[in-house]
Amino acid sequence: MTRRRAPKPASRPEGAGLWQRIRLFRQDMFSSQPERLYRAWMAEVRGPLYRSFLVNDPALVKRVLLEEPEKFPKSAIIHDTLRGLLGDSVFLSNGETWKRQRRILDPAFEQGAVKAFPAMRDAGAAAVVRLGKGGMVEMEAVASMLTADVIFRTLFSIPITSEVATRVFQAFRRYQRAQPLWNIPGLLRLPRWAPRFHSKAARESAAEIRGLLAGLVAARAAEIVEGRAPDDLATRIMTLPDPETGETFTPAEMVDQVAIFFLAGHETSASALGWALYLLAANPDIQARAAAEAMAAPDLGDLSGMPFIKAVFRETLRLFPPVPMMVREAAEACEFRGRNVPKGSLAILSPWHLHRHRRLWDHPDDFDPDRWQTQNGKACKRNAYIPFSAGPRVCSGAGFAMIEGVLLLSMLLAAYRFEAGPEPVPVAHLTVRAKDGINLRLVPRDGSSPEHTDA
Ligand code: HEM
Repeated sequence: MTRRRAPKPASRPEGAGLWQRIRLFRQDMFSSQPERLYRAWMAEVRGPLYRSFLVNDPALVKRVLLEEPEKFPKSAIIHDTLRGLLGDSVFLSNGETWKRQRRILDPAFEQGAVKAFPAMRDAGAAAVVRLGKGGMVEMEAVASMLTADVIFRTLFSIPITSEVATRVFQAFRRYQRAQPLWNIPGLLRLPRWAPRFHSKAARESAAEIRGLLAGLVAARAAEIVEGRAPDDLATRIMTLPDPETGETFTPAEMVDQVAIFFLAGHETSASALGWALYLLAANPDIQARAAAEAMAAPDLGDLSGMPFIKAVFRETLRLFPPVPMMVREAAEACEFRGRNVPKGSLAILSPWHLHRHRRLWDHPDDFDPDRWQTQNGKACKRNAYIPFSAGPRVCSGAGFAMIEGVLLLSMLLAAYRFEAGPEPVPVAHLTVRAKDGINLRLVPRDGSSPEHTDA
């Protein structure tokens, strides 16, 4: 069995003080975490104004996400940074608002993956054309454009090269550069009126994105009225009524939902795709097996014929869960493993630590897609594997993302051989990214010579 240690960020030095921790947290959430979190079942952090509990015990994770989700709603304070972009979308809402949004979105998305298949395939083919003869490529940027292309084609039936889509994509990149992941007032539980560090650039790009999306929604609303709207995700979300009240989303609510589909639907998949290609590039024997499977598949539309590529994608989501941590808030006082959890405490669920937990996984930092064929892999999958979260707030796009990941990987592997550049260092931005990007060399499999460019 071949396997190799996957990149892992340095942990926080023992004994670091609060301000050093906050500084590390702002700079990179991973470097602010101590090594012992990879072994602990639970860790409590007491701040001056708050308490938070990182939970790694699978039974506790299950309780928070699946058994008592209403007692642990999403923490609004922590997500405040995203509100400028996402409004009151399903990702941030709680209670009745959230329930209503899911009642409309879930049926619209039910056949999402099946219906989106042509969009995924067309976006994959367009990416191969753009990559041409390969050469040195920064894969994160390529993957972001590719998955944004998938999501625009799925939502609005337009490719990323269309003018509005390109403008949204570029504004989003500016937003990411300008927006810190966590806000310090949120972290310290300061009251909501305390100043937030929303930079002007972040506010401006969020407003620009929302303006462009509002234009797309308005145009689609007109097409629906005129009876000439394409049968895509936007049309389904805008026309499907809430089964309980019969109401549809208002145009303003629609902009919130489109914004989250764009964000959640492309950032996460791009992160996973970039890391999967790095892991394959760094492990040529595993890449050869995956590429052989892709090239032997008579029809790339039949993903059941690609169990190994699926295992590669699952293993990538284990080592580099695109959403590294999720935050919930205790709605009432309770106990975790015999300790008092006061009302308002934060419960932090960390796929990043859970997926590399020393006591839950064999050789946790190794890239080993074969683990998914073994009994141990399956047991851990049940107990300690939550790349898409779990329970009622599970990712709406999980099925979509699995199909997208396997299909795009197989298309890229069939077209190119990937060679690894310098080892990337994982950092937590909106999703798990590489500090200096993922630089790979692409060699076309059709025998044409790679370009010597720094594309
Ligand atoms: C590899 C790809 C993806 C990963 C790893 C992923 C992961 C996640 C996770 C962990 C959450 C829960 C976050 C939390 O509770 O704080 C989530 C929520 C969500 N995801 Fe995904 N996601 C992926 C792709 C997608 C795609 C493709 C879409 C849509 C096209 C999507 C739409 C959503 C939405 C709407 C939510 C909010 C659900 C709710 O709160 O009720 N995701 N995702």
